[in-house]
Amino acid sequence: MSTETEGKKQSLSITDNRTGKSYEVPIADGTIRSTDLRKIRVDADDFGLMTYDPAFMNTAACRSAITYIDGDKGILRYRGYDIAELAEKSTYLEVAYLLLSGELPTQTQLDEFTRSVTLHTFVHENVKELMDGFRYDAHPMGMLIATVGALSTFYPEAKNIFDQPTRHLQIVRLLAKMPTIAAWSYRHSVGLRYIYPDNDLAYAGNFLSMMKRMAELSYKVNPILERALDILFILHADHEQNCSASAMRGVGSSQVDPYSAVAAAAAALYGPLHGGANEAVLRMLHQIGNVANVPAFIKEVKGGSGSRLMGFGHRVYKNYDPRAKVIKKLADEVFEVTGKNPLLDIALELERIALQDEYFVSRKLYPNVDFYSGLIYQAMGFPVDMFPVLFAIPRTVGWLAQWEEMLLDSEQKIARPRQIYTGKDLRSFVPMDKR
Ligand code: ACO
Repeated sequence: MSTETEGKKQSLSITDNRTGKSYEVPIADGTIRSTDLRKIRVDADDFGLMTYDPAFMNTAACRSAITYIDGDKGILRYRGYDIAELAEKSTYLEVAYLLLSGELPTQTQLDEFTRSVTLHTFVHENVKELMDGFRYDAHPMGMLIATVGALSTFYPEAKNIFDQPTRHLQIVRLLAKMPTIAAWSYRHSVGLRYIYPDNDLAYAGNFLSMMKRMAELSYKVNPILERALDILFILHADHEQNCSASAMRGVGSSQVDPYSAVAAAAAALYGPLHGGANEAVLRMLHQIGNVANVPAFIKEVKGGSGSRLMGFGHRVYKNYDPRAKVIKKLADEVFEVTGKNPLLDIALELERIALQDEYFVSRKLYPNVDFYSGLIYQAMGFPVDMFPVLFAIPRTVGWLAQWEEMLLDSEQKIARPRQIYTGKDLRSFVPMDKR
């Protein structure tokens, strides 16, 4: 069954020392299929060899044509386009179209896509009442997760996931309504009235309006801040098979409607190891307090105290996170408008020292996307609680692109990992008086 490339067999020879039997397993795309190992058995009753891979450290669970990452080289591409180039030349909705369809839109396609997303920014009035029911100090991310899941009750047709027009409509609705729900979650958590979408504004500008508008008839968006937010949305739009995308695919593989699956993905994003790291960066910078304290903090991190330099290091990137490069430059532009975030000097000094320190260099620890993004969000007036929400808005398109790709992939089935059972063997029930 093995294929041949340039005279070399594309296969793996395995000898099972338990039985002395040899097997040949095909290699394609640098990968073997785990199910090919099932034929490696001790006897007829044996289930067959499995692989054990907690946290999916070395398991590809899908084939995907959406996002490419080379962590060693610090490369991130959406559908083949470099992230830095997209951040410079594109808009969030253009990138959303690209992620979903695979190609950049023509002007007509972009206009039509923008028009339909804009038309769907409003939510049913009952959604407002639902959100009103949350406690006065509810965390906005908790509200977002619950409310986006509740949308499935407003659109029961969404369960027709294999009908393309229906599926597309839900995708548009989700992209359009996430900023509305996100902004209303914030307004609720601070006791301000909900602001309806302003369809004269662009995607990021409309979100800023729903967040910030007070008594004025229409909100005047600062173009530099609007563009900065749009770029942050581009940078966060997708990141291949991360925790929340895997949740989206895993839950979506049960063929549930996309609102329920997006709620699950957003819940995965809520965790501090995923979407909450930029908040931890801010806490760390506050704790350091002063540039003069940076060397002592670095020493503490290296000393094995357990504290980490938050916003540094990444499971995949062993080089400068390409998104962090763009964000660092963006920070200067935002601070021109908002005034400098006083924590920036501490961050710059941390980065300067860490990038020449043997501890960080040898472990390939570089700034990741979260190192500077929190500083920008804070300077733009977003409270820390909103940081994961600000991540969820743009990541929705990544989740949806991953979900749709999964649905249309004939190799995919309901996600169902195996386990190595470590519990007791069969035993008899012990009556209450004998325990
Ligand atoms: N500060 C200090 N040391 C670190 C850091 C850090 N930020 N990150 C990793 N290390 C050290 C570890 O102590 C370990 O050292 P050792 O080999 O001497 O034991 C080595 O580098 C490897 O670290 P691991 O934890 O094995 O790397 P892993 O890939 O599992 O973790 C992670 C990646 C979780 C991102 C880690 O680098 C970290 O905790 N960073 C800080 C938190 C953070 O910024 N998270 C955001 C990630 S981006 C995102 O999710 C959007």
